Amino acid sequence: MNYSAKVMDHFMNPRNVGEISDADGIGEVGNPVCGDIMKIYLKIDDNRIQDVKFNTFGCGSAIASSSMATELIKGKTLEEAWELSNKAVAEALDGLPPVKMHCSVLAEQAVHKAINNYRIANGLSPWDYKEHGDIHALAPDEQ
Ligand code: FES
Repeated sequence: MNYSAKVMDHFMNPRNVGEISDADGIGEVGNPVCGDIMKIYLKIDDNRIQDVKFNTFGCGSAIASSSMATELIKGKTLEEAWELSNKAVAEALDGLPPVKMHCSVLAEQAVHKAINNYRIANGLSPWDYKEHGDIHALAPDEQ
């Protein structure tokens, strides 16, 4: 399988790995087919993501996707971060092989979940999860 230099870089040197002990929002998602798990921690102040960390127990593409996702949402408002799509994560990595697109979906979902976790904890209604249109579902032949 051919991976871009950016995927390899973020896999070998992932950014923002770890956890935030006093996180304001936590999102954990897993893919039941491959068994990979991703957890994203957000530190939020004044509606802005001041810090973000992640732990991913999964494949190289999932690690690279979560690393890139954290870079893309750091410093953003919650509204801006909510717009992060798996396609944007994959594009920022200079592409993922088609059978690995679902790994970037985990990153999108983990960010959404962490934001809603924060909103619910603060008495706000969760935002509706909307698919960003190019989610590549895991087909049986990609397991
Ligand atoms: S997240 Fe399942 S193989 Fe990458």
